[in-house]
Amino acid sequence: MTVNGYQPGFPVEIIQEGKVKVLVPRLRDFVRQPCEYAPSKAPVFYNPVMELNRDIAVLVVQAYQRLADRNITVSEPLTGCGLRGIRFATEVSGVENTVIGDINENAFKLANRNVQMNGLVKSITVENREANLALAIHSAPRMRFDVVDIDPFGSPVPFLDSAIRALKNRGLLALTATDMASLCGVHPKACLRKYGGKSLRTEYCHELAIRLLSGCFAVAAAKYGIGVKVVFSHRGEHYVRVYATIEYGARSADLSLEEMGYVFHCFNCFHRETVRGSLLLGHSQTCLECGSKLGVAGPMWLGKISDRDFCGLIEQEVEKRKLKSARKIESMLTLIRNESDVGYYVVDEMCDLLGLPVPSVGKVVEALEKQGFGSNLTHFNSRGIRSKAPAHVFAKILKELTSPVRSG
Ligand SMILES: C[S@@+](CC[C@H](N)C(=O)[O-])C[C@H]1O[C@@H](n2cnc3c(N)ncnc32)[C@H](O)[C@@H]1O
Ligand SMILES: [Zn+2]
Repeated sequence: MTVNGYQPGFPVEIIQEGKVKVLVPRLRDFVRQPCEYAPSKAPVFYNPVMELNRDIAVLVVQAYQRLADRNITVSEPLTGCGLRGIRFATEVSGVENTVIGDINENAFKLANRNVQMNGLVKSITVENREANLALAIHSAPRMRFDVVDIDPFGSPVPFLDSAIRALKNRGLLALTATDMASLCGVHPKACLRKYGGKSLRTEYCHELAIRLLSGCFAVAAAKYGIGVKVVFSHRGEHYVRVYATIEYGARSADLSLEEMGYVFHCFNCFHRETVRGSLLLGHSQTCLECGSKLGVAGPMWLGKISDRDFCGLIEQEVEKRKLKSARKIESMLTLIRNESDVGYYVVDEMCDLLGLPVPSVGKVVEALEKQGFGSNLTHFNSRGIRSKAPAHVFAKILKELTSPVRSG
């Protein structure tokens, strides 16, 4: 379908993001009530709030390309106005070919217009196809991509198998999930249906969301004799994002299945523990600390949710660019590179449940240190602390820090 000279039949405006300028729907013309979500009201999807998500995507793909040390091909089969794919083609060096597409004909036409506007017709192909079909066309060995970026409405699961099959050995898959109610334990049945695991409404449910999505990916890849390694992941305002590389081979698939397991959480005393294995056989559901019945989440990915060296590569890329969000990304990276253990404590939520006033996070970190427990902050929650300290020690520290000082 040719779209030369295409004029959108709806209000548009030019915006700049990263190094590119694109036409997008003028969102203010599509909301009638202040509470309406403008991006989904427009004839073509565009969400300015996802700029940080796209900035990080550019950095991650560049870090991946540096590691691969060769030219790479990229697919973005749910592209909306084409902004993400156009940024990959423009801002990531070593991207030789990008295929973007959308099922929505208006999106396809606008993305095509944006590709022309940015002088990228030779390096970007735009398709008006259903994403699974678009990916299936690239599932033959020599047609596969180095990077596939799945950024859908809601869950990426309907596109997971096609994305895996369209990836080269050692390729990189990027997944956004915005169905946080399913992944964070609000709709447990939906989570089980879509992700094959159970979540829990704990204070670290956003981390569980990343682990459920990663686990679902690992299980899907294992069917094809493919192993996965999560190199980076992060939480956004209303979504989680996972970046993982794949490796062909039954052994690699077996090894990644060994990273699957369960999280047990006590809603009475905050105790949590993990159990590795795909099947939950004979593990006691009684809390060792207080005897209450434990909640169970999983099966999910218990392995690393980011790789320190890969974080270092992303950091190098931030320093080379002038991104609006550079400082935010740098501070996220400082935290994410240390986010290895499962779960964290959230000072405010624990104090709330214990009926205590809330001490500063710094004071709690100091007190943990005095008791010989290291700790790290987390990008998931500004009031969160990761520590190997048992929950009863953590709770005791909170009580001591907030009990009134006795005089006399
Ligand atoms: C969240 S938006 C994409 C935003 C875009 N990736 C960005 O960064 O700006 C999801 C897009 O997927 C498209 N879409 C939904 N279902 C699809 C399908 N089955 N195949 C292809 N495109 C689809 C929608 O039309 C929409 O443009
Ligand atoms: Zn307990």
